This record gives sequence, C-alpha cells and structure tokens, in this order.
Amino acid sequence: MCGIVGAVAQRNIVPILLEGLKRLEYRGYDSCGVAVNNNGLKRARSVARVAELQEQVARTEFEGNTGIAHTRWATHGAPATNNAHPHFSTKDGEQRIGLVHNGIIENYEEIRTELKALGYVFESQTDTEAIAHLVNHMYDGDLLRTVQKVVKRLHGAFAIAVFAKDEPQRIVGARLGCPLIVGLGDGENFLASDAMALAGSTDQIVYLEEGDVVDVRLDGVQIYDKLDLPVERRAQTVQAYSGAIELGPYRHYMQKEIFEQPRAISDTLEGVLGFTPELFGPKAEAVFNDIDSVLILACGTSYYSGMTARYWLESLAGLPTSVEIASEYRYRKPAVNPNTLVVVISQSGETADTLAALKYAQELGHKHSLAICNVGTSAMVRETELSYLTRAGAEIGVASTKAFTTQLTALFLLTATLAKMRGRMDAEAEAFHLKNLRHLPNALQSVLALEPHIIAWSEAFARKEHALFLGRGLHYPIALEGALKLKEISYIHAEAYPAGELKHGPLALVTEDMPVVTVAPNDTLIEKLKSNMQEVRARGGQLYVFADGDSQMHSSEGIHVIRLPEHYGLLSPILHVVTLQLLAYHTALARGTDVDKPRNLAKSVTVE
Ligand code: M6R
Repeated sequence: MCGIVGAVAQRNIVPILLEGLKRLEYRGYDSCGVAVNNNGLKRARSVARVAELQEQVARTEFEGNTGIAHTRWATHGAPATNNAHPHFSTKDGEQRIGLVHNGIIENYEEIRTELKALGYVFESQTDTEAIAHLVNHMYDGDLLRTVQKVVKRLHGAFAIAVFAKDEPQRIVGARLGCPLIVGLGDGENFLASDAMALAGSTDQIVYLEEGDVVDVRLDGVQIYDKLDLPVERRAQTVQAYSGAIELGPYRHYMQKEIFEQPRAISDTLEGVLGFTPELFGPKAEAVFNDIDSVLILACGTSYYSGMTARYWLESLAGLPTSVEIASEYRYRKPAVNPNTLVVVISQSGETADTLAALKYAQELGHKHSLAICNVGTSAMVRETELSYLTRAGAEIGVASTKAFTTQLTALFLLTATLAKMRGRMDAEAEAFHLKNLRHLPNALQSVLALEPHIIAWSEAFARKEHALFLGRGLHYPIALEGALKLKEISYIHAEAYPAGELKHGPLALVTEDMPVVTVAPNDTLIEKLKSNMQEVRARGGQLYVFADGDSQMHSSEGIHVIRLPEHYGLLSPILHVVTLQLLAYHTALARGTDVDKPRNLAKSVTVE
C-alpha cells in the first residue's frame, strides 16, 4: 500500500505533490509527508491527514521544484512522525538522501544491522529507512547508478522514489512488485503510484514494468530494465478521473458510490448486445472452447463476488467452479487442471495477493486467465489473456460498493456467455436474461429509495457491538458481504452464516441483544429460511429481514421487515447487497466513524 508522488519541474511543485497525495490517500492514511530538494533537503510530516500537512506547509516557507511525497499505510513501526516518509539519510552531518517507499523489504533487518555497524543512525522502525541509508552508503555521485546497485540488494516488494541533495532536479524511481508510473509533462516530469495522482498535471503515462529503474529529469525520463539496459516504454493517454474526487451532494464517497450503482451497472453493460465471447477479448472464443472448469481467485469483497458467481457458473453454465482466497491459494500446492479458466477479480487490479496468486497459477501450468477489473491499465489486466472491464469509475471509499455490483454484472455476463457457448442457453433464455440485466439500473433505483427505512433500523444497530447475518444459496455470499461492510466501517463485530448452519453452533450467540440480519429473497429456499428465522425468534433474537415485495413476510414482534421490489431471480444478489451497504453506511454514520477511511485499512492492498 502507501502512495508515492514525485515531481521535477521549473515551478514550485509542493501544491502538485500535496494534491497528488490527497488523491492517493485511498492507498493508506496512517501518516503523510513531503520533501523538497531546494538548496538542501527539507521535509514536513504529519500523522494526521494530508489536509493537516497542507496547513503545516502553508505556515512555513516550503517550496521547491524537485520533490517527493508519501502517504503511508503502516507495516513496520507505528503511525508516528518518526516513521512517516520521506526518510532522510545523513552523512558527515549533512542530509544527503531523501526516499519514499511502498512495499515491504524482507531483508531489511540484515541491511539495518550492517549499516548500524557502519555508524548509520536509525530514527524509525521502518524497513524504508534501511533503503535510504543504503543509498547514502553506496552513493557515488550518480544517483541512477547507485539505485541500480541498491535495488539488487533488496528482497521483497517495493516502489521507491529517491533524490540526492547534490543532484538537484533529478529523481530516481524503481519498482518490483508494487506499482509506479511515470507522468510526462511539458518541461516537467513526474512519478506516482497511480495516474490519478497526476490528474491535472499530465495525462501522458508510462507504466513501469517489473524491475524497471527510471531516471526522471526536467528535460525527459530514461527507463532501464532489470538488466540495467535502456528501454523504451510506450506512453499512454490516461483519463485519470479527477472529477471522481468531487463529492457533490453526498456526505461521503461511500454514499456517493452506493448511489452511483445504477449508472455504474449501465456503463458496465454498455455495448452488450448479446452474450458473445468477444466481450472478453479477441482470443476469448478459442479459450472458452478449451476450458472445462473455472478457478476464481480474489480477496475481500471481490472474493464474495466470486463466491456468488460460483452458483451461477455451476447452475447455468454447468462448469465446475472453485473460488479461493488469493492469499491462501498462493501458498498451497493445488492439483492443476490446465483446462481451467483462472478468473481474477479485483477493483484495483493491483492487490498483491491476487496478483501473486495469478502468477502462481500461471507458473503451475494454468494456460488461460481472465481479469474482471475496474482499472484497465492495472497489472492484473496486463497479466491476463482475457479481461472484462467493469466501468464503475473511480471508487474512493475504502469500503467497496459499486465495484462489487459491477463485478457481479460482469460475472453474470461471463456465465451467460459460457452457458450459451456450451449449448445451455437458447435464444429465448438469452433475451430474458438480457432484458433483466438492462432493467437492473431501474430496479436498483427502487432499492435505493428504501434508504429512509434503513436509516430507521441503523439507529438500533448503532447501539450494538455484535450482529449476525444470514443468507442461503446465492445470497449467502451477500450475507458475508453485508457483514464485512458493517464491521469494516462501523467496527461492530459482524459474522455471516449460511442460515442452515445456525444450529451447528452460532445459535448459541443469539439473545435478545443480538440483531440478526436476514437476506430473504423469495426464492426456492425461502421456506427453509423461514424455519431458520423461527429458530432465532424462539431464542429471543431480533430479526431484521430484507424480503422481496412478492413474499408473504410481514413485520411482527421481534421481526422487522423491509421489502425490496419483487424477486429478481438469479440477479437478485445485486439488489439485495445494496440494502446491506446502506445499513452499514448509516450505522457507521450514527456511530460517528470515519466512513471513507476506516481505521487500520487502505483501499488498495499492494502489500502481502
Ligand atoms: O482491489 P481489490 O478488489 O482486489 O481489493 C480486494 C479487497 O482488498 C477489497 O475488496 C476489500 O475487502 C474492501 N475494503 C472491502 O470493502
């Protein structure tokens, strides 16, 4: 995680760096800092948000035309000022090197011990400071050459940006396992973790590849590959969503993003006239004809969209499907069927565990891969044979909402395409599913209109410390997602179970103080679910039920019911999850938490 911005220009770059940091706060917000190389190295750091750093900088004369900045998600060392980046390294009483870092250096203790013995003084507990001192120690007057040597000593994953006092108007960057991009301006050049940081400064972006080192100067940039050979990397015009950071009438990005879902789904479906393999790339037809099973790899919310898709893929397309948490898959020795389609699902396309699991699957002999992703320029899309881009637009709230529903939309398209190719969906069924998909944005508007009823519930939830979520079948992953949303932003301990599991243990938790949220669509499992609800009521548990308008469920003592529009068949999870997003959002609001930046988390998890 962590966000990096760097700039070399002829103007004062501090406002650009700080604006860039604000846009990168989604990558971590434990602390932040900025440094300039302006007749000596100077820095400002804060354990509050970027807005506070801005105020700090405004109070002093803090300017420069070469600078680096960082927003941190703490790994080594607490979120304290001494651990905040940029880190400086001093020699003979003079601050010579400034450095920011994203990632984890696995052999930092060994480097630290070595440098301490040589007299370097460590002020922080970070792995980053070891790199700064190592650059200083190996510095031979040429920062590029020094960084090329230094990175060969580092084990782990990193993106770094570094400058040297004696070489003004120069920054050297390097990446391995963490994202770093170069922004090309007119007589000025930039480095950043994400193109979004540079919106407004440049839209000409070069994506560095694994092992690249880049020399950034005023008049141009030169990239070197992992063998230190100069290479050309193509610049792309990237529309970084600068408008996405406008909140408009909403109080939080999460709320804005929940309400953007009808638009996001309709954009994700744009251009879909039927279930055809070309939607997934030119090679998709050949690939889809070659597969006999699916393996889904993902983390967090994206994992839950994969779990939902398994029900679709097996029942509609008849394809055996397994869904694995990426951080588990990457370290086990699975049996490999090379005719499996490996599907990675990710909002960011940069999640370290998912990316590593994909590479591992490929190394194991899986020849076909597909990414469902919200960022077209991301590593995951670049590393897979096929892709489908969700068009949710930038998702800024740490709690994923519109990314999830657009992933489900894309996964349903994938399922329907495979079902049709495998002779399991005729023209009539295709037309039926297409019609339902196209109607989704309208159906979602009716669900969003339930907000006032959900606000009324959230006041009761805000006083609780625990909650249970129940679902069955297709809606069990939706219960899991609802529980994740609630715990993530309200800090209420929430767990989800398939309702049939209750009696095998969790029922012991149920008392009148335990709210039990039940996802109760009017599907074939509704009668079974009603029995599970009775089991809760018999123990005094309070049920909060999201039912469909056409089901016979009514509020009564201990049973609170909100009715969605009529049952929406296989696409029902896309509607039901929205009620749970709203419940989590309003409960967090009532508890006064930092909804968009919940404690200890970051939006994009680019470390292991
Ligand atoms: O960018 P990704 O979809 O790969 O991210 C995966 C998870 O880190 C993410 O979904 C996380 O669980 C969210 N904070 C959940 O709201």
